Amino acid sequence: MTIFAEGILGGRVAFVTGGGTGITGGVARALAEAGANVALVSRSLEHLEPAAAAINQAQEAATTGTGEAFAVAADVRKPEEVEKAIAAAVERFGKIDIIVNGAAGNFLCAAEELSPNGFGTVVDIDLKGTFNVCRASFEELKKNQGQILNISATLHYLGTPMQLHVSAAKAGVDALTRNLAVEWGRHGIRVNAIAPGPIADTEGMKRLVPEAIKEKLKQKVPLGRFGLIKDIENAAVFLCSDAASFINGAVLVVDGAQWLAANRLF
Ligand code: NAP
Ligand code: COA
Repeated sequence: MTIFAEGILGGRVAFVTGGGTGITGGVARALAEAGANVALVSRSLEHLEPAAAAINQAQEAATTGTGEAFAVAADVRKPEEVEKAIAAAVERFGKIDIIVNGAAGNFLCAAEELSPNGFGTVVDIDLKGTFNVCRASFEELKKNQGQILNISATLHYLGTPMQLHVSAAKAGVDALTRNLAVEWGRHGIRVNAIAPGPIADTEGMKRLVPEAIKEKLKQKVPLGRFGLIKDIENAAVFLCSDAASFINGAVLVVDGAQWLAANRLF
């Protein structure tokens, strides 16, 4: 059941990295529910194919115009694979007008124990991967007055222990969002980001928030709960829709004010 008008993204084509699982899997599903055709992109077809099949089954069952999905494997660290995936999506759906950069990697590690390759790997996926996809999609987005939605985080707003690598990468993603909004806004391309707080039932939460501190963290969120994947889906559909047509360069925090409250004593 969607809270948006039916077919709000009808006729659009989205290219969603990380679109087979978790938060960006939900975003891809929501964009399809809103009428967009979606290319789901990540390294593993084992993640992508079931997600694409679920979207296509929903499309067959739907009485309104929802979008279809197809899976294309690519590692965002490899520009040549990204270019091939963009070309495959254009061949399949005729164009691309929405890019969602959700592909990411993360783990808990103290800065002094982090190897150069550990730091570099996360920067390569989250930041350089985002750049690779933006760069490879520029001509398509320019042609279609399209847009980019990056999935960032709030970890770098304060100092978050064990998260140096991803904080550096996501700070870069925010910079890239703002710079591209300025440079590519001239071409009619909007570039925005969503910064999710802790989102329940995701790989990120499983990796980063030990069971023992989950309840304590939840109580510190002013709204008294963790986010849902649905919360990010709704923010993404809004930002990708014409309702957001003058929003460019924004990083929309969707975290129940968790980070604002994070260093409060009471
Ligand atoms: P997730 O399900 O593990 O999503 C990460 C996705 O990235 C996976 O689908 C993975 O698919 C893909 N991926 C990883 N490396 C890749 C590469 N080199 N090339 C292409 N795709 C790659 O985790 P999630 O928790 O839902 O996170 C989704 C996004 O939300 C991430 O950007 C994350 O930083 C952000 N976020 C999450 C939270 C949270 O609470 N979970 C909070 C703030 C921000 P393959 O394994 O198939 O490649
Ligand atoms: N702690 C410390 N270092 C770690 C680590 C951990 N838990 N996991 C990986 N690394 C280091 C490795 O030791 C290696 O560095 P080294 O060569 O100096 O030993 C480097 O990171 C690369 O690891 P590798 O396993 O080869 O990377 P990969 O490209 O196969 O996988 C990851 C990338 C590490 C990010 C992997 O966790 C992944 O695929 N994640 C995707 C899903 C995800 O993280 N979801 C949550 C998103 S918020």
